[in-house]
Amino acid sequence: MRVLLAGFPWVLGSLRVAAAPRPARILSRDILPFLDPSSVMTLSSDEMSDFAPYEQFARAAYCSSSSVADWTCGEACSAVSGFETTTTGGDGDAVQLYYVGYWPSENAVVVAHEGTDPTQFLSDLTDIDIVTENLNSTLFPGVSSSVWVHSGFADEHAKTASIVLDAANSIISSKGATTVICVGHSLGGALAELDAVFFTLNLPSDITVIGRTFGTPRVGNPDWADLVDSSVSDFTRMNNVDDPIPIVPGRFLGFQHPETELHVVSDSTYQVVACPGNDDATDADCTIATVPNVVDANLLDHLGPYPGGIYMGTIYCT
Ligand SMILES: *[C@@H]1O[C@H](CO)[C@@H](O)[C@H](O)[C@H]1NC(C)=O
Repeated sequence: MRVLLAGFPWVLGSLRVAAAPRPARILSRDILPFLDPSSVMTLSSDEMSDFAPYEQFARAAYCSSSSVADWTCGEACSAVSGFETTTTGGDGDAVQLYYVGYWPSENAVVVAHEGTDPTQFLSDLTDIDIVTENLNSTLFPGVSSSVWVHSGFADEHAKTASIVLDAANSIISSKGATTVICVGHSLGGALAELDAVFFTLNLPSDITVIGRTFGTPRVGNPDWADLVDSSVSDFTRMNNVDDPIPIVPGRFLGFQHPETELHVVSDSTYQVVACPGNDDATDADCTIATVPNVVDANLLDHLGPYPGGIYMGTIYCT
């Protein structure tokens, strides 16, 4: 059975929450990767707010291409000043919205993909008939045939792969950008995870590739997770409280996350715990322990609030 991943704008009017956004600070990248892979650490409020620009970039991916093109998409765009969008695309239906641009203060390319309707997404990803496939060797040269990923994610990624690569290369040559940052929430997070490996394999080795994802499902098997861990030196996936999306597809189907989860453990204080280990981490504060199954989860947590009071989804382009 083919897993449907067509994104469509969704409206959850009753979920509108009065968040109190704090101004974003530009990150200090050196908080990551984390210090001690054997322990779980709590991030300081400064470290949490360093994440805000990534959250805003992921949030902006839900906004209309026209508003992202001139960086007038509301709070998300206002929060990251000076960003220069060079490419937008997708239609939020057959192809998830996406954009590529230049972030001058970090001398970085940002590549962002939209997520999808979380209710449909959860339903698709709890289907045990999930189809998987090897990576396309043209897009992912040299990757072992032992690596497999969710077919729906791979197909969606392939639709934009050459476009975002061309756009990134263009900014690298015109601006001298030295970093490519892949961001996304939900399905967009899965696409960003694929992008992070894709860029690592297809850009010059002196370009640093960073991945920052939010509420991301499992993308592939343990060999995929190992590939992310070994090829993307700075990759972090943030999960919010009891969001079920990060626990699907299930590990019993052979899926596994890469390392470096950041788990938001409180929506009121935005306390975040860094879970440096892999997807079998046993610490009580990490998603794998606090969200044992989808029944005990809360899909509303998928939307936010992420640290700084930031929500992600079509209705949050305000
Ligand atoms: C792999 O990707 C290339 C480039 O996008 C495409 O031309 C080719 O058809 C793809 N191969 C398969 C088997 O999907």
